[in-house]
Amino acid sequence: MSKPKVVLGVSGGIAAYKACELLRRLSESGHDVRVVPTASALHFVGAATWSALSGNPVSTEVWDDVHEVPHVRIGQHADLVVVAPATADMLAKAAHGLADDLLTNTLLTARCPVVFAPAMHTEMWEHPATQENVATLRRRGAVVIEPAVGRLTGVDTGKGRLPDPAEIFEVCRRVLARGATEPDLAGRHVVVSAGGTREPLDPVRFLGNRSSGKQGYALARTAAARGARVTLVAANTALADPAGVDVVRVGTAVQLREAVLKAAADADAVVMAAAVADFRPAAYATGKIKKKDDQEPEPIVLVRNPDVLAEISADRARSGQVIVGFAAETDDVLANGRAKLARKGCDLLVVNEVGERKTFGAEENEAVVLGADGSETPVPHGPKEALAETVWDLVSARLG
Ligand code: CTP
Repeated sequence: MSKPKVVLGVSGGIAAYKACELLRRLSESGHDVRVVPTASALHFVGAATWSALSGNPVSTEVWDDVHEVPHVRIGQHADLVVVAPATADMLAKAAHGLADDLLTNTLLTARCPVVFAPAMHTEMWEHPATQENVATLRRRGAVVIEPAVGRLTGVDTGKGRLPDPAEIFEVCRRVLARGATEPDLAGRHVVVSAGGTREPLDPVRFLGNRSSGKQGYALARTAAARGARVTLVAANTALADPAGVDVVRVGTAVQLREAVLKAAADADAVVMAAAVADFRPAAYATGKIKKKDDQEPEPIVLVRNPDVLAEISADRARSGQVIVGFAAETDDVLANGRAKLARKGCDLLVVNEVGERKTFGAEENEAVVLGADGSETPVPHGPKEALAETVWDLVSARLG
């Protein structure tokens, strides 16, 4: 089998040096990578570096090797085009179909999936012109990864950093795995909650749970690779932000509720993968609770937390919004799952069997997805990503 052909477009931003790392990852994992830098990208990283790392010739203009008609051939033969970094100028050209160099010509001739990883200063990213160009590209089916937040060129910090090359590589891998199919979540906004809430007792102690957040993060990553704009409401996770995802960090169930309700207002789908505490301590001690040698400990009095899944299911922010819950069960898994689906009022419920060493913190998972329409989709033991893909398949079918 021939290697998948990837075109790595590099436009002229300082983050061009990080594309070398992306190139290495793509080449080392068995892809045939053709780098197409713009003329300004070569101010940051020279053609010799791209050529040596890719093992392929490098040109920026349509006038090199004209007999091979590169401005058409490179795009036509690609299985994936990824532009990293994509500058504001490159996004504008791509959105308007300009074709004044080899990369922009390639973008017009490519019929394969296209991924843009923008990097620029926050003001440029937030400018309505850039935002409209991004919306146009997404509407046409391109995957535009949200920039990361952090240190920018110089002393500035904000949104606009190129996401970690390892994360961009993961998006490319998933988009390639889906093949030439249109990203089915393009133009959609999805909200995913992940992790486990912590309910504080005093400044140093909390009631928590074992959720690692891995399943929710897998859902966020796979949705981004399928073209969705993703808001990830993360409760107490220690995982790296997935590329292209807006992460909102929360601690308690009440904070999680607020963040989910806010993000769900314009969402097409909400997936509640977080383990939300059903109860919280009735009182919070502002000072550390001290043990008293001559006294029995005080009992901890608990009060109910809001049930976020039931609330957003009963009072949908948008008509046609698809809502997915998760259920962790130890016994009578299917019967309990069906009852929970009805009680919560969501459209789909992913039912996991949990135990001491099952599911929590593991890389793999096994589940049944129950539908309010009576459907039952078993997902065999496998990576959490595979379960995530099944969830999005079912959501996508319901979005119509
Ligand atoms: N959930 C929620 N708000 C809560 C508790 C849970 O939104 N206060 C959501 C979880 O995110 C998950 C689903 O509800 O999607 C199922 O949670 P689970 O704890 O399994 O269900 P419970 O309602 O707590 O039922 P039980 O205690 O009987 O297991």
